[in-house]
Amino acid sequence: MISVGVITASDKGSRGEREDRSGQVIAEQVKTIGGQVVTYKIVPDERAILAETMRKMADDEKVDLILTTGGTGFSPRDVTPEATLDVIERLVPGIAEAMRAQSMKITNRAMLTRGVAGLRGKSLLINLPGSPKAVAECLAVIMPALPHGLAILK
Ligand code: MTE
Repeated sequence: MISVGVITASDKGSRGEREDRSGQVIAEQVKTIGGQVVTYKIVPDERAILAETMRKMADDEKVDLILTTGGTGFSPRDVTPEATLDVIERLVPGIAEAMRAQSMKITNRAMLTRGVAGLRGKSLLINLPGSPKAVAECLAVIMPALPHGLAILK
């Protein structure tokens, strides 16, 4: 079993003003690689809160895979990549590169996500864009390679 933490970065979602469909898409799709969501948080687009939430999931809850959704674009409130860079110890550029490269075949707006990926301890952190459609498309690209990567990390 791959333990998965989901963090939805959304001001509206954190106030209960928007249903988190992207988090639901993640929970469904990770099942296909033996993943199970064990912890799930909806937080506002605040760099310090996002970073602390990621740190706790990695260090205290020790989840294998932390998937964030949202806050990767150009809006002034989009700070998920910056929060992620605050906590990761080693970059994994290829994951973000693969998602953008494959997504460009679907929409040229894929170049607008600033998402990053990296390792903290034995956890892999990956930023996904915010829309349920983008989440599904990006996960489809990376999921086949994740079990091998996570096995090496142990
Ligand atoms: N990637 C895929 N695969 N499919 C998409 O529809 N949307 C893009 C991009 N990445 C998209 C995608 C758009 S329109 C934006 S603005 C950025 O992700 C950032 O999204 P976010 O701010 O919700 O994180």
